[in-house]
Amino acid sequence: MGPVPDAYRIAAPIYDAATLLWSGGAIWRSRACQVGYMQPGERALYVGCGRGRAAVRAAQKGVEVLGIDRSPAMLARARSQAQRMDAQVRWVAGDAAEWQPETPFDHVCANHFFNVFEESRMRWFRERLWSWVAPGGWLHVADFRPLHGSRWQRWAQRAHHWIPLSGCRAFTGNARHGIYDHDAWLPPGARVSTQDHRVYGWGPAWYRSWHLQKHA
Ligand SMILES: C[S@@+](CC[C@H](N)C(=O)[O-])C[C@H]1O[C@@H](n2cnc3c(N)ncnc32)[C@H](O)[C@@H]1O
Repeated sequence: MGPVPDAYRIAAPIYDAATLLWSGGAIWRSRACQVGYMQPGERALYVGCGRGRAAVRAAQKGVEVLGIDRSPAMLARARSQAQRMDAQVRWVAGDAAEWQPETPFDHVCANHFFNVFEESRMRWFRERLWSWVAPGGWLHVADFRPLHGSRWQRWAQRAHHWIPLSGCRAFTGNARHGIYDHDAWLPPGARVSTQDHRVYGWGPAWYRSWHLQKHA
């Protein structure tokens, strides 16, 4: 079997600019708020870290960061960003479905990662990432907010999700699915808090960050 083609090679150069334009910075804020939960010296894992901007931000705070991604094109940008910002991050090129950490992490971050997969695979990944969290540690998830509001608001929210998902599907082969309801998932013994993020800072709150803490 030959090497697996890089699904994100076309998306990688434009990914950050496209998400900034589409969400007016809400996608960035949905990841950046996680760093507020981290303390210098703690260990954080970014799964499907992409271009690594959030991982670099955590490393600048003194967090020991590992970022894993299976796209060489995304990781190349993450590496050069860390270099430019003089941030120490350990990057792993690989498939998070096959990789296994040696010890659990204080923070595991899954940012706009679950959207890549169809529902049963997404559920499998969610449980897997939860198992990598140390007692007392956190799983941080950033994603589209579950559907809410009136019929028309839900329709608009679906369209806001469907358009980039279809673009991603065309360019990266991501799964086709509706907005995942992470609110309906609460692992036993977990405490959860959420933060919502408005499109362009003033528009509808269509992005959500979940912070799930494991019982110590
Ligand atoms: C939608 S992008 C999100 C990137 C980044 N987390 C962010 O918030 O901008 C999904 C990322 O997950 C990576 N990815 C998809 N499946 C993966 C897997 N099985 N193992 C590791 N990375 C994966 C892709 O290469 C891509 O960089």
